[in-house]
Amino acid sequence: MIEGCSVSPADPNPDVHPGSVARPDWWKSAVVYQVYPRSFADSDGDGVGDLGGILDHLDYLELLGVDVVWLSPVYRSPMADNGYDISDYHDVDPLFGTLEQLDELIAQLHARDMKLVMDLVVNHTSSAHAWFVESRSSTDNPKRDWYWWRSPRPGHEPGSPGAEPTNWGSAFSGPAWTYDDRTGEYYLHVFTPHQPDLNWENPEVRQAVYAMMRDWLDRGVDGFRMDVINVISKVVGPVGADGRVTLPDGVVGGERDPRWPGVVDTDVFADTPAFVLNGPRVHEFLQEMHRQVFAGRPPGLLKVGETPGCPVEEAVLYTDPSRDELDMVFQFEHVDLDSGPKGKWDIRPMTMLRLKESFGRWQNGLAEVGWNSLYLGNHDQPRCVSRFGSDAPEHREQSAKALATVLHLHRGTPYIYQGDELGMGNPGFTRLEQLRDVESLNHYATAVARGENPADVSRALAYKGRDNARVPMPWDASTGAGFTTGTPWLDLHPLSGSVNAAAQVDDPDSVFSHYRRLIALRHAEPCVAHGTFRMLLANHEQLYCFERSFDDTRLLVVANLSSTADVVPDLSELVAWSSAEPLIASVPGSSPTPTDPLAPWESRVFRLT
Ligand code: NOJ
Repeated sequence: MIEGCSVSPADPNPDVHPGSVARPDWWKSAVVYQVYPRSFADSDGDGVGDLGGILDHLDYLELLGVDVVWLSPVYRSPMADNGYDISDYHDVDPLFGTLEQLDELIAQLHARDMKLVMDLVVNHTSSAHAWFVESRSSTDNPKRDWYWWRSPRPGHEPGSPGAEPTNWGSAFSGPAWTYDDRTGEYYLHVFTPHQPDLNWENPEVRQAVYAMMRDWLDRGVDGFRMDVINVISKVVGPVGADGRVTLPDGVVGGERDPRWPGVVDTDVFADTPAFVLNGPRVHEFLQEMHRQVFAGRPPGLLKVGETPGCPVEEAVLYTDPSRDELDMVFQFEHVDLDSGPKGKWDIRPMTMLRLKESFGRWQNGLAEVGWNSLYLGNHDQPRCVSRFGSDAPEHREQSAKALATVLHLHRGTPYIYQGDELGMGNPGFTRLEQLRDVESLNHYATAVARGENPADVSRALAYKGRDNARVPMPWDASTGAGFTTGTPWLDLHPLSGSVNAAAQVDDPDSVFSHYRRLIALRHAEPCVAHGTFRMLLANHEQLYCFERSFDDTRLLVVANLSSTADVVPDLSELVAWSSAEPLIASVPGSSPTPTDPLAPWESRVFRLT
């Protein structure tokens, strides 16, 4: 037992661990931990995290109690987008180590009753992938049609602005087309020019992807996190004079698609999401993938899709078990709540009421059919404490705990992004030279070139840029924070000396220990995984309060998601909870009742049986 929790973190998850018959939907009671390898731990002193570093820290993950590791890409890559540009799906990049080390990681995780989920990046490859190298070599190469090659717009000088085949913009600034003068055609890339989109209309492409996925499952991995998987099917028009399907133009300067207020500049380009998100054949492709990759294998391989711009009705389709597509999706609604009409960098205040409204709607939307994945941060988002909580010194720890309490007690599978379990906030970048991310650097260059104030652009990047989450994991208070003996690829967090794993793992009051309790509670109490969800005090501006219910057990979560002191849960329904047992209390040593006033960012979980 650890203080503040009536369950022991040492108890195994009965749904996941061998010794009991694993449920095919074991992931409902599981917690996933995301490792961003470049920033996790460096074992060879080159300043970049690697597989050796992950192998060195498995005790830490086991102590935390997580069931699954999602490993961001370690495949061979030129690293234009930190590995989300893969040049060989079958090998490990030397920067990260070797295939043997990956096998070792699979074996060691399995020996600890943990699973490994690989990142699957198949909307696009790297432009250095052999498939693309062949494809671009000539117009009649057999792999030409594996990517989206199209002729310049008639009447325009090939390669000049406006000659792109459509007016689509890339998610990472600039047009979504790059001209290749070797063959006089353009290729499509929703992300950087180094990430050409695969043409999923071509059955050979799909078969090649499925074969690669089968190889990884044969190797022992336990599932996939599928990168922008709802982008694989594009809206296409009729077959054109060149025998290829046409891709349509959109309206420039029109309304931005509210489903994905990304970075496409709609003053210059069409709002591209309308043509690439949740496209006409995406469900068909995912069902085919299931038949060709997963069917016939032991049940329970995890399939989680990253799906920007996915409304809840679409998520029901993706995650309805009877449709055999995905187990759950990462939806983006809550991480777009602080985006204004001009998109991601047009920053609006994040309010708790909007977060509650959004999460509540997703809980209801997937209550009967489908399943939620629960996340507040990942390698593409700023730190959740700085965004949804408060990273002010007096509130950072309590707000990290409160956010975790609320998230982990929702219905769905929680995902922890490395470092959130330590309460890491944004590092507070002050100089452009500190940034490494291609999205941020491209945005800075284009925004400043079109006349935006550099200081404003930098402020937006410091708040929302992806490097915020990518600063190295602080393992201890040493010079390299225990992350590296060399020069880290991205500056260490300025608080690494005090906010680090060594300072927290043995402290029962730490953010880390609070996460351990939440994970242990999910393993021990079926109501956390399987209970129904009912939001309480929906319009309260400080309190996030809800009830879960399963068989004869009810759980109550009361959290003050604000810096206001003495917030009273004035809800008549709570009187019925007066005999409830406090299960988890974020304030050390307290034994609260459901109606006690809450300190800033205080959170509590009660059980009534
Ligand atoms: C989503 C990934 O999470 C992100 O890091 C990447 O840049 C894009 N997809 C493109 O692969």
